[in-house]
Amino acid sequence: MTIKPILRLSLFGLLFFGACSPEKSPKQEEATESKEAIAKQKLAVGKSIYETNCAGCHDSDVAGAPKPGVKADWKNRMQQGHDIMAKKAIQGIEGKKGVMPPKGGNDVLTDEEVTSAVNYMISLTK
Ligand code: HEC
Repeated sequence: MTIKPILRLSLFGLLFFGACSPEKSPKQEEATESKEAIAKQKLAVGKSIYETNCAGCHDSDVAGAPKPGVKADWKNRMQQGHDIMAKKAIQGIEGKKGVMPPKGGNDVLTDEEVTSAVNYMISLTK
């Protein structure tokens, strides 16, 4: 019976390596952490853009501007999807109750900045 010790050894090997494999390598962990950090940072940028350029109308229901956090204001708008909403915020909207000028009236904002503000608004409303 010389096979048994070998079997035992290879079984041990399987268990040993099997136990190691589900763990993430440090590099993978770093990657997920920095992804989260980037997402947080983007929301923070969106927040400050929102507060300076958009809150004037959107926090006080000017001309029917949907208020972040008020689900009823966003229910129907959400269905069109984030991308279209961002596009409309960039190009301007002529709604039933009121008008939103392109980029909220601040032409120096880039499309990305307006989009980040839209994402911030949506993140408050989910
Ligand atoms: C002058 C007031 C005003 C400012 C400033 C303003 N908005 Fe608006 N916004 C509106 C109004 C009014 C509506 C609603 C139009 C309608 O009836 O659909 C609206 C709608 C929206 C919507 C919903 C679009 C949709 O598809 O339903 C988004 C998103 C939005 N604004 C983003 C922004 C962002 C981002 C900023 C700042 C960069 C901003 N708004 C600044 C007045 C404003």
